[in-house]
Amino acid sequence: MPAGRVMVTGAAGLLGQKIIDVFKRESEYELHACDLSGGIDGYFSLDITDRQRVLDVVRAISPSVIINAAAFTDVDRAEVDRELAYKVNATAVDYLAEAAFLFGAKMVHISTDYVFNGLKGNYDENSVPDPISYYGKSKLAGENLLRARLENHAILRTQVLYGFGKSIKKNFVLWVLEKLSNKEKFSVVTDQIGNPTLADELAIAVLKVVQRDAKGLYNVSGVQSLSRFDFAKAVAEVFGIDPSGMSPTTTDRLNQRARRPTNSSFICLKAQTELGLTVPSVRDSLYFMRQQMKVAGVFQPATKTIS
Ligand SMILES: NC(=O)c1ccc[n+]([C@@H]2O[C@H](COP(=O)([O-])OP(=O)(O)OC[C@H]3O[C@@H](n4cnc5c(N)ncnc54)[C@H](OP(=O)(O)O)[C@@H]3O)[C@@H](O)[C@H]2O)c1
Repeated sequence: MPAGRVMVTGAAGLLGQKIIDVFKRESEYELHACDLSGGIDGYFSLDITDRQRVLDVVRAISPSVIINAAAFTDVDRAEVDRELAYKVNATAVDYLAEAAFLFGAKMVHISTDYVFNGLKGNYDENSVPDPISYYGKSKLAGENLLRARLENHAILRTQVLYGFGKSIKKNFVLWVLEKLSNKEKFSVVTDQIGNPTLADELAIAVLKVVQRDAKGLYNVSGVQSLSRFDFAKAVAEVFGIDPSGMSPTTTDRLNQRARRPTNSSFICLKAQTELGLTVPSVRDSLYFMRQQMKVAGVFQPATKTIS
């Protein structure tokens, strides 16, 4: 007897894949995966910006929980493609919440540290958002629309999400690995500080939220806050690759289209206390990812032992 029916949107994305894996491996829920293209066998095709399709798919699945892992995640493109970013990150969240309300489901939604301006760091669930990019604004609007439409919800804010998956967009760790492996010269910022989060660990938090029927807002990220440069150094060390092509730089020299929070580090005590989350160190999480890539034959690690 399944524990309940769970519908996952954006199931082909990095987090979506991990949610599907974790729920299959560690729970009895009946899973219904949806992705944008419908290119995966057995998945529903679902563009969450199509209100009628959202209503039809939710009616057909009749889930007890909808997990929204779909999003417009290209932070720089969101500055110029504002209409689409808002549609996916805000309006579509409202459509999902409407469908959840109509068909009696709970909604679990994923948000971001980019709702903060990054001037202070150490943000908790009571910190006041002040997004400085359009992506951050659209994600905050999505949170607010969900809160207004559906009481039965949980929002998990996360940051610097990384991991290994099939046909996914390049995340920070994969980008660093590509540069290092190709022996390219590249620069990484020392003045953007955050808590890197392994997508596999966030997926476990999502499962715990569903199992415990947790509601409200949770910060869920890795436990250590460090600069992108220090994180990239940890990647080089754990994957056993020479880091000498990598040099430090600062945000003002990068010319990124969207502004980034300088320090958006999180305090995750609420999630640790209420969900019983224990999150490994950055190095242990990277080591876990390295093992996954080794098993998939994508990366041949150096023989160096990891301390
Ligand atoms: N990545 C990070 O560093 C980071 C940091 C903080 C928070 N987050 C949040 O974490 C969540 C998961 O992110 P992720 O890294 O797993 O992102 P991802 O790999 O980009 O996955 C997002 C998925 O959503 C799909 N999608 C886009 N538009 C859609 C639409 N209209 N209808 C249905 N699906 C759509 C994408 O499809 P296509 O690939 O075909 O576009 C992709 O499969 C998001 O809510 C994101 O905002 C991410």
